[in-house]
Amino acid sequence: MWISFAGIITNYKDVKQFLVQKGHKFRSDTDTEIIAKLIKHIHGLHPNYSFRELVEQVIQQLEGAFALCFKSMHFPGEVVATRRGSPLLVGIKTKTKLATDHIPILYSKDSPEKVELKDTQSDHRPHGHEIPAHGLARSQSTSEFLPQGDNKEVEYFFASDASAIIEHTDRVIYLLDDDVASVEKEGVLKIHRLKRTLEDTHAREITTLKMEIQQIMKGNFSSFMQKEIFEQPESVVTTMRGRINFDSETVVLGGIKDYIGEIRRCRRLLLIACGTSYNSAIATRQLLEELTELPVMVDLASDFLDRNTPIFRDDVCFFISQSGETADTLMALRYCKQRGALIVGITNTVGSSICRESHCGVHINAGPEIGVASTKAYTSQIISLVMFALMVSEDRISAQPRRSEIIQGLRNLPDQIKEVLELDSKIQEISKKVFEKKSLLVLGRGYNYATCLEGALKIKEITYMHSEGILAGELKHGPLALVDKGMPIIMICTRDNVFVKCMNALQQVTAREGRPILICHKNDQEPQKYGSSVLEVPKTVDCLQGILTVIPLQLVSYHVAVLKGCNVDCPRNLAKSVTVE
Ligand code: F6R
Repeated sequence: MWISFAGIITNYKDVKQFLVQKGHKFRSDTDTEIIAKLIKHIHGLHPNYSFRELVEQVIQQLEGAFALCFKSMHFPGEVVATRRGSPLLVGIKTKTKLATDHIPILYSKDSPEKVELKDTQSDHRPHGHEIPAHGLARSQSTSEFLPQGDNKEVEYFFASDASAIIEHTDRVIYLLDDDVASVEKEGVLKIHRLKRTLEDTHAREITTLKMEIQQIMKGNFSSFMQKEIFEQPESVVTTMRGRINFDSETVVLGGIKDYIGEIRRCRRLLLIACGTSYNSAIATRQLLEELTELPVMVDLASDFLDRNTPIFRDDVCFFISQSGETADTLMALRYCKQRGALIVGITNTVGSSICRESHCGVHINAGPEIGVASTKAYTSQIISLVMFALMVSEDRISAQPRRSEIIQGLRNLPDQIKEVLELDSKIQEISKKVFEKKSLLVLGRGYNYATCLEGALKIKEITYMHSEGILAGELKHGPLALVDKGMPIIMICTRDNVFVKCMNALQQVTAREGRPILICHKNDQEPQKYGSSVLEVPKTVDCLQGILTVIPLQLVSYHVAVLKGCNVDCPRNLAKSVTVE
């Protein structure tokens, strides 16, 4: 048995205990092994079941979030794949056109019956004849799916993410929870479901990916993370393309324009996310409060769920996620949807669960992000939320000068990002001074606070060095105790409404012999005299400044990781899509 498994089986101890009682021996303590042993056990009880029927029985016994792909020497030439709570797609490659761009769903004729693991030896087959959901005869529906013409050759690819298969094909089917896709001997793909529900659509659509192969190649870069950092002058443009008219100073987000009235009338905005996506919510909260004049709550999805947070029908809940599959964010989304709130998805992955389950939303269009550490998605998330704030405030006369300054700031951003990226070799030199240290503090406040959190998260996740983003206003409430001449500190001090307070914090640090690396505006002498090194960034509007101050920190984390010999794209203990709670 060959199994490819992503996710977590939450009842694996119970299943294992059952199988041990039945005499199965285990070689590991993994979830994957219980799946293999379980399918073997059911095959032993029901040797006449097809491969697909065995898998259907297995998944009925499993709890958790998973994507699974099975092959077996008992069923040569066949593959069965299924998902629940974890993403899974099927890529289709043919020499000629397919006769249809939909594949019908097949259901069991009789109501599905779960095999009781109690171990009856009956060989009762749980499923009758398959019937397609829309009532087509089986042969008709499945043969429609084959390629047209004489060459019926077809290849299938199973993957969690489109970037893994784009070099082979651009045609994919996104499977939904509890779909069971099987490729049988004759090469026909079928999608089954155990139960028919009211919300079921009758078919799965074949989508053509818009991704280019170059987008998933590293090119001259040593890692995807480095490539993605350097892509930011272009990715911010694709996020804004077709949405902002810089001359008429108008912003239209097609995915939410029909909901703007409802959003303006809401009780409050909630921004819910994890990790970097959460930091993008922190980065934009102040502007959202200012331009929407609504209360804005920002929550980590896991904490939001732990608190059973009260949600009302007139709340508008934003779920921000690069992958669109993060389990905590998705569960928080379902929690708010059940309570009648309007759900807005902000994702980078078309067809992802968050995307599908939202009422409306914004694709951040940053292009595929392959490095585990999120970089370009962060800056595009910020821009998407800024565009949302601009759109909501379009009818406020008093907000026009502010809107105008922000829109012009967005226009100049790509060139300013290029300027920041020119600091790369200087940052590499600075990184040499800190890479052997144990810890690195990142200090700032106001709009730069999110940069501190995000910079520290990047440093932790790919360099394994301890790092903390500290709000400079909190310095005297504890963290100042950490400061001495040996503690590496990066401090962000740009000219905005908290500049004077930041200078104050800077002096407190230097008074304790701290010699911070400073990120400040170009040619701003005042803070520079306190820094051990200085990284000068161009000045932009306060609410966009975080985009320019985070890039040096992305580069610091990248260079420190390289100097320490860490695997930049695949940091230990982390996955690109966190599909488990
Ligand atoms: C950090 C990072 C994670 C993700 C977090 C949420 O670089 O990649 O912190 O930001 O797991 O992921 P998404 O945005 O896919 O929901």
